[in-house]
Amino acid sequence: MNLIFLGPPGAGKGTQACLLSEALHVPQISTGVILRNAVRAGTPMGVRAKSFMDSGSLVPDEVVVGIVEERLQAADCSSGFILDGFPRTVAQADSLDSMLARLGKQIEHVLSLTVEDDELLTRISGRRMCENCGKGYHVIYDPPKVSGICDLCGSALYQRDDDRVETMRKRLNEYYQKTAPLINYYSEKMILRPISGIGAIEDIQSRIEKVLEGSIRDNS
Ligand code: AP5
Repeated sequence: MNLIFLGPPGAGKGTQACLLSEALHVPQISTGVILRNAVRAGTPMGVRAKSFMDSGSLVPDEVVVGIVEERLQAADCSSGFILDGFPRTVAQADSLDSMLARLGKQIEHVLSLTVEDDELLTRISGRRMCENCGKGYHVIYDPPKVSGICDLCGSALYQRDDDRVETMRKRLNEYYQKTAPLINYYSEKMILRPISGIGAIEDIQSRIEKVLEGSIRDNS
């Protein structure tokens, strides 16, 4: 099953994509994670992306399209994938359509998480990430068992540079200007599945599983 998670920063795309990836046994492809890893490693792509990410702007389309095109050709995507944070502009969505056509694949569902702005700011300001495996936590809503330590790999947790309030507002503006038009884009293709992102993480997971019910049975 080939899926996209769509939604504003902090809507829970990464949290839910991770849970669904385990349920469906397909990879979660997060352009945000790939870019942050490149920044940390100091690769040419990371150096180019850093200033955009630090300011809360989107990284240029050609950079992220290249990342996704290469990743979708990996063997672990043969029985499906979950795109988390891509596409984010209409140009990226058009590029995705073309690359999937070349690969003989298509997107089956676009899971569109809706959460209002005040809640997004609360979630983002409390977010912590594992510096090693990238798993996300929230200091109140989804804390690790031991404060500051990842449950999965025992590494230290950190706060993302772009999770400061002023950068967060820029990211939200970018979302409304450049990414929100994808709601209509995928609605017209009849593959948009709007899901309320408000409530406990497990409740949202259940809503998603309900939307995908038949497809999850087929994939497991
Ligand atoms: P990216 O890493 O993709 O960030 P984002 O889209 O802004 O999304 P977030 O990671 O902030 O939020 P999320 O929806 O995944 O929420 P999460 O599950 O973590 O991108 C970062 C930057 O990279 C961009 O600004 C851009 O510069 C660049 N970039 C990436 N992709 C790009 C692209 N395609 N094109 C151009 N540039 C690109 O949850 C948030 C917090 O809330 C967590 O702490 C979590 O524990 C908590 N939480 C989750 N669910 C709940 C719940 N139900 N209740 C309470 N708390 C919850």
